Parts: sequence; structure tokens; C-alpha cells
Amino acid sequence: MTAAAKPDREISNISALIRKYNRQYYIGDTSDITDAEYDALMNRLLSLEREHPEFRREDSPTARVGSAPLSSFSTVTHNPPMLSLSNVFSREDFLAFHSRTVLELESNQVEYSVEPKLDGVSLSLVYENSMLVRAGTRGDGVRGEDVTDNARTIRSIPLRLNTGQPVNVEVRGEVFFMVKDFQKMNRTREEAGESPFANPRNAASGSLRQLDSAITAGRPLSFMAYATGQYPYGMETQEELFSKLHLWGFMVNPQNRICSTPERVMAVYDDLVEVRPDLPMEIDGMVIKLNSISQREGIGFLSRAPRWATAWKFHAEEIATALIGIEVQVGRTGRLTPVARLEPVKVGGVVVTSATLHNQDEVIRKDVRAGDIVLVRRAGDVIPEVVASLPPEDGIRGEVFRMPDECPVCNGPVVQPEGEVNLYCINPSCEARIRKSLEHWASRKALDIEGLGKKLCEQLVDAGMVSSIADLYSLNYHELTALERMGELKATKLFSALAESRKKPLSRFLTGLGIPGVGEVASRDIAEGFKNLEALGNATEDDLTAVKGIGPVTALSIRRFFTNPVTSEVVDQLAEAGFNPIEENTGKGTALADETIVFTGTLEMPRQKAKQLALKAGAKVISSITGKTTLLVAGKNAGSKLKKAEKLGIRVVSEEEFLESAKNGAASGDAAPSVCISSLL
Ligand code: IVH
Repeated sequence: MTAAAKPDREISNISALIRKYNRQYYIGDTSDITDAEYDALMNRLLSLEREHPEFRREDSPTARVGSAPLSSFSTVTHNPPMLSLSNVFSREDFLAFHSRTVLELESNQVEYSVEPKLDGVSLSLVYENSMLVRAGTRGDGVRGEDVTDNARTIRSIPLRLNTGQPVNVEVRGEVFFMVKDFQKMNRTREEAGESPFANPRNAASGSLRQLDSAITAGRPLSFMAYATGQYPYGMETQEELFSKLHLWGFMVNPQNRICSTPERVMAVYDDLVEVRPDLPMEIDGMVIKLNSISQREGIGFLSRAPRWATAWKFHAEEIATALIGIEVQVGRTGRLTPVARLEPVKVGGVVVTSATLHNQDEVIRKDVRAGDIVLVRRAGDVIPEVVASLPPEDGIRGEVFRMPDECPVCNGPVVQPEGEVNLYCINPSCEARIRKSLEHWASRKALDIEGLGKKLCEQLVDAGMVSSIADLYSLNYHELTALERMGELKATKLFSALAESRKKPLSRFLTGLGIPGVGEVASRDIAEGFKNLEALGNATEDDLTAVKGIGPVTALSIRRFFTNPVTSEVVDQLAEAGFNPIEENTGKGTALADETIVFTGTLEMPRQKAKQLALKAGAKVISSITGKTTLLVAGKNAGSKLKKAEKLGIRVVSEEEFLESAKNGAASGDAAPSVCISSLL
């Protein structure tokens, strides 16, 4: 891109490129460019449009980063209404549906379109002259919420349809999270001290219904199309519709099938039940629709559902157990979370003793009370959740649960930020918060301080010896050895580990600070961008968003952290205690640089350690095998991932071989001089 290029030309060229890469990535599942190159293009386009707003087009790819927050949603009206589906739960039910259909059509020449039932939220997209003009949630079927700004941030929703002639059409489909995106998002949230989402469906619904579209933009939602409002352009079958939708630029489910006999439909059901755990998204059944549109018209509708389609639902494993009580936990960020303590019970092969209840709204919605018998479910790989309470036979129940109006740990005030369902303890000296911050600071992914575990963090806080992470570095040896179960040897080792922690690179230091929104991945990106603490402390929001992978929300959070008097004082105290973290080696040019690694099976070393070795050597680590995976490290008893990697021709190495490459390539990141232990005493 030359500086002399006309801005309008450059804007339209970059936009076309980004659109092409979006299509490749979301529809074709490939990519010609790296994430960093993509971000660079996007940032260039953003700054050009900022300088020349007159050339910004309505369908610009920058619409994907979100726009100004709304104070409320306006209403959209669906015409025709967005219907729901009748259900069948067994072969018999389905065969009854089939017989009725054959009878009414007076023909047994029926073909069905059989589609996985995506477990997300439905969305209507209105295109005028091929341009996305409105997006609406289903709502009550007739009236929904206008979530156009949010829909624009979802990359797999085309802002402009790829049609020859401009078309007017309403496309309907499902917004959901791919399992890998959901897991990655949850990991990032946990690393950043935010609560993970319990279930992809609720998370998708919540993410789509944000008044601030920048928040939606930060959630990796996907969209798959399966219907149109009116049948457009003489289309005769669902099959034809799917190829059209695909052509226009939508993702359509590759698992959709056309079945010409009821036996085939039942076989597809059996197949889906079997492949369900390995599918890239969660499904809760399958949808069976008449393929022929003229046949549909002959069969018609009931009041809320078409009679030419039905949903065959899967059974989720839900197990009943007793709810012993509801506890309120306080996290590092001060967030209060109600947690159900359960009589231990096995769900989906795992013993479950507690389940999150998320927040007060959820507890009330489910009306869960201590002493109830509750149904517990594990949705996919995620945290167990309480689905519902079973009414007791005698009708006698415990008290309605209320979140406390003060912090259960420090008795300090709790607040509910506007627009949030969560309550927060705002006392920065709350012992629960300090304990959790210390644990986080000492954890493997952060400063990795051996000997400073959960128990000791608790002892230090309880004894009033530490009230912030910086206090760890002015601990008194004699006071420390006076603690229970703390001999001289243990204390000396701890001081040595604390001294070592000062040599850790900037990325680990940043992870340890626990800035909201800044986990392991963002910390590495930032550290690579700024190299030292001083440069980072002086960075403006614009400097921060210029770093690959850092969006405006994270930038603001970092800026706030370094300017807030309480948090910036901790950073100053750490600097006084001898911290001068820098980022030197990022592993570029090492044996594992540029590899995208998946670990599977049982490894000799802890997973976290293996992951860090890989990252240090410049590799990326992901959790499931995708087209992007270049290397699988297989430990003992590797199973389905190994098979999948072999099938896809991905290179597989043993843990030993991996270790060898990691060592050969990765230079030591321990650059800062070591600190003499005695200086700490
Ligand atoms: S067709 C009248 N197709 O299931 C046709 N729905 O209970 C209605 N869903 O609200 C929708 N996958 O959110 C259709 N392939 C699919 C679907 C699907 C998921 C959801 C959709 C709808 C609900 C019906």
C-alpha cells in the first residue's frame, strides 16, 4: 500500500481484500494470510476511515468492530412470523409424523431435508439490494429486538450478499458458538479473571443481545443459515435454497442431508447421535423438513409451527441430586458468584459436587433453594449446571435465595454496575480478593512461584502480613518462619522463588497483574509490542489498539489499570521491589516457531508446562485439531485426536521429540540479572 494511493481507492481495495479473506476463513475454512496480517489490514482500514469518513461505506468490514452503544433495542416485526417447531422424541413419533405427511400429500414420494438442530438462537437478517439492513432476534415470533449493530460484528454474516443482480431477501438462521471458539473464549475469560460462561447457548443469546456492540464484537459468534422469510425466486426445494445461501456467502451446515425414505431419516438420526460428541458445534437434535416447497404449501401451518417440519430432539443426560446449600464465592475481581453445593453425583462420567448458579437472576429464574432435589447437567465439556429444581412431594421448601447486600468475606459494600447482572465487592482490601490475586500471581501461567500455593496465600492474608501482591516482596523472614507449617528450609525456598519471579518476562508479569480482559494470550501480544513496563505504562489507548489482537475494550481496561491510583501504586511498589520486567526472546526462528500445536493423551510433564515451552519457542497452542493444526504432540493413551490428526496428515511427535525441539530452538527468556536472596531478608 503506497502512501500516495488515493484514500477512496485504498479503502475500497482493502475492503475487498478483507471481504475475500473473511469468505475464505468463515465459509471455506482456509486462510491465505496470518491473523497478524489480517489485523494489520483491518487497522489500516480503520485509520483511513477515521481520516476520511466521507469514504466510509455502510458495508465496510470495519462495521465488524462494533458501533456506539444503544440505550435500548428498537423492535423489528417479522413477516412472516418466525415459527417454532413441533417435536418428536422417538422413532414411533417420527413415523407417525411421516404417515400423516404421506396421507395428507396423498403420495409417498416424499423427500426430507434433515438438518442438525443447532443449539443457539435464531436470527433474521434482512437484505435490501443485497446489503444487510436489519437483523432481528426471534422474540415472540412476531416482534423481536433489532440487533443490527451486533449482527454486523459476526464475521460469518455477510454484510453484502455475493449476488450478481442485487436481491431483496430475508435470511434466517442460527447464531451460536463453535465449541472450539467457546472453549477458547472461556479460557481467555478465566485467565483474565472473568467468569467463564456455563453454556454456549445462553452465552450466544447474551452476546447477541448486548447494547454495546463492541462487546458482541469481542465474542467469537458464528451464524449458519437454514431458511428464508419468503421463498425467493421460484425456488423449489430446501436443497436448492442451501446451495443459493452458500453461494451468497453464508455458512451452511455440511451435515445437512436429503433423505428419500423414512428409514434413511432414522439412520441419519443414529449417525448424528454417534458423531454428536465430535461435531464442531453443539446440537440438541435434528430438524426434519419437507424438501419440496410446493409440498410444504399443500400441508400448511398450525398456529405456531409448520406442519411440514418437526424437530427430533436428543435426550441430554440430566441427573437428580440433593442441593445441600448455596454459597457465595468472591473472586479476584470481586465478583460474587452463587455456587450450589451438591450431594456428589456422577454426570456424564464425572463426579460433580458443585455447580455454578451464575447470579441472582439465574437462581430466581430456576427457583433453586437449599434442600431441593435438583437436576444437574454437564453441557459439553463445560462447568456443570443446575437445570431445574424438582418440586418436593410435601411442598415444604427452604427459603428463597437472595444474594447478600454485603460481601460475605469482608462485609464491605457490594455494587451492581449498570447493565450487569453480577454483583461486585468493591473493597480492594477484601481478603478474598487479595487471596485470589496472590494465588493468581503465583500460578504457573503467571510468575510461577513455587511454594506459594493456595494454603500459604490464605495464611499470609489471614495473618495480616500481605495485603497486595507487592507486599510479598517485603515479607519478613522471622515473621514468615513463625507461621504454622513454615520451617526455615521452606521459608528460604520461598524467598528464593520470590527472587526468581523478578526475572520473569514482561508477559508473565502482565498475566500476573490480572488486568480485566488481559489473560495469557493478550499479555504475550502486549509484551511483544511494548517490550518493557515503562513503555507500556505510558501507552495510550491508540498505541495499545495498534498491537495485534488488542481491541478497544482491552485497551481501555489496560489504560485504566495503569492510571487508577490503587492499581498503579501496586505496579510502582513492584518496581521499587526490583521488578523491571522486559520481553526479549519471543522464540522467532526456533524449531517450533510458527507451529500450531495440539497436545493430547497423558504427558509426563504437566500440560501447563508443555504449553509454556511451546509458547516460549514461538509456537501457538490450540485445544482441538483443525485445519490450522500443524503438529500433534501425543502422550500416552492418545485417542480420537491422534486418529483425526493421522487422517488429516498432520505431523505427530512424541513428548520426547517435542521436548527436544523445544530445547533446541528456544533460547532462555531469563534475561534479567538474578537478585541476591539476602537482599530480601
Ligand atoms: S427451521 C419453521 N432449521 O430450532 C422453521 N430451525 O424449535 C423453523 N433451529 O427457532 C426453523 N437448527 O432456532 C430450523 N436447521 C434448522 C435449525 C433450526 C436450529 C432452531 C431455531 C428454531 C428452533 C425451532
